[in-house]
Amino acid sequence: MVSQSTNHVLWHFTLTIFIVILFNPKLSYAEQSKLMDLNTNMIDHCWRQNPEWRRHRQQIATCSIGYVGKMTNNIGKELIHYKVTDPNDDPINPKFGTLRYGASVIQGKVWITFQKNMNIRLVKPLLISSFTTIDGRGVNIHIANNACLMIFKATNIIIHSIRIHHCKAQSPGMVMGPNGKVIHLGPVDGDAIRLITASKIWIDHNTLYNCEDGLLDVTRGSSNVTISNNWFREQDKVMLLGHDDGYVRDRNMKVTVVYNHFGPNCNQRMPRIRHGYAHVANNLYLGWVQYAIGGSMGPSLKSEANLFIAPKVGSKEVTWRNVGKTNGNQWEFHSVRDGFENGASFAVTEGGRVPKPNYSKEQSFKVVNVKYVRSLTRSSGAFQCSKTFIC
Ligand SMILES: *[C@@H]1O[C@H](CO)[C@@H](O)[C@H](O)[C@H]1NC(C)=O
Ligand SMILES: *[C@@H]1O[C@H](CO)[C@@H](O)[C@H](O)[C@H]1NC(C)=O
Repeated sequence: MVSQSTNHVLWHFTLTIFIVILFNPKLSYAEQSKLMDLNTNMIDHCWRQNPEWRRHRQQIATCSIGYVGKMTNNIGKELIHYKVTDPNDDPINPKFGTLRYGASVIQGKVWITFQKNMNIRLVKPLLISSFTTIDGRGVNIHIANNACLMIFKATNIIIHSIRIHHCKAQSPGMVMGPNGKVIHLGPVDGDAIRLITASKIWIDHNTLYNCEDGLLDVTRGSSNVTISNNWFREQDKVMLLGHDDGYVRDRNMKVTVVYNHFGPNCNQRMPRIRHGYAHVANNLYLGWVQYAIGGSMGPSLKSEANLFIAPKVGSKEVTWRNVGKTNGNQWEFHSVRDGFENGASFAVTEGGRVPKPNYSKEQSFKVVNVKYVRSLTRSSGAFQCSKTFIC
């Protein structure tokens, strides 16, 4: 990883190029935009250039891309600003100042920030309410060493710049639900973030690792999700899209996976998809053990301009298919403009037409040439903030 201060310099460099291109009359508009497209992480470009981003935190709601669309439902009038001041947790009677109070008790639009660096050990899974933004920018926030995040029957949620790790399975018990009422929650696996019947969810710039089950599960009819700029590492099962083989409602699932950094030491599921459709673009894959992209139940996946760096030893093949008894010939795994290093290979579906994501105007983004993937994903994960790097 290149250091953040180098990164800072690079942004200035990019900005300079931008200005040069913009004011160069010799270039046509098409030529200008071609040059501009080379190296742009569209999400970061939208807010990180603003040195006053702390005073304009809500600007980021307009920066999302892919199936989640823009997060403008999370901002505007009636937005409640809530600051976490207390790292403690009470799952039934959350105190004002704790994360759970902001995320589960307060209803309506709430924008959660943190007063200082914090290690939060959740006693039970945190059930996040609709229209909630958890914004860890500017501080180092860890949610670790016990229960982690759950989005259950909720919509319009942003999770940004949080480190989530060492999540553990939980026994059943009482917990504050996303509607501010105490509910009984069954047993949960140890996932970092689990979506259950959730929609319009944006997971951006988080660092996820070392959990008992998986890092990110999108299940039970969840859809309209964008997973961007995250750093996934040190994990067996990384990302699951689609609940189980029998859950046909996941046929409508649409997920965008863009600008993420997978590895080192990830084994499988980056992602593993069932039923639905995923657009996986401009991600960096630093090896795998079993496979990177896999699935069952005839899903569709468009892999576009990702950089797949095979492990030095072991399987060089990116994909894995569990064909089973059904849907064997409806399989759609496509690779378009991907890059392969260390002998990586991608077994594509023969003769299939690549389904387009059919993004609307506000969802669409330019997938850039794979040779820029390393630089696009350089600052993936939660930002490391320091006195020299004001992130
Ligand atoms: C996803 O968004 C589309 C519009 O882009 C909408 O028609 C659909 O109902 C949404 N799906 C869910 C599960 O909310
Ligand atoms: C986009 O539209 C085309 C044409 O209708 C369709 O074949 C394709 O499956 C659609 N893509 C998705 C992801 O639904």
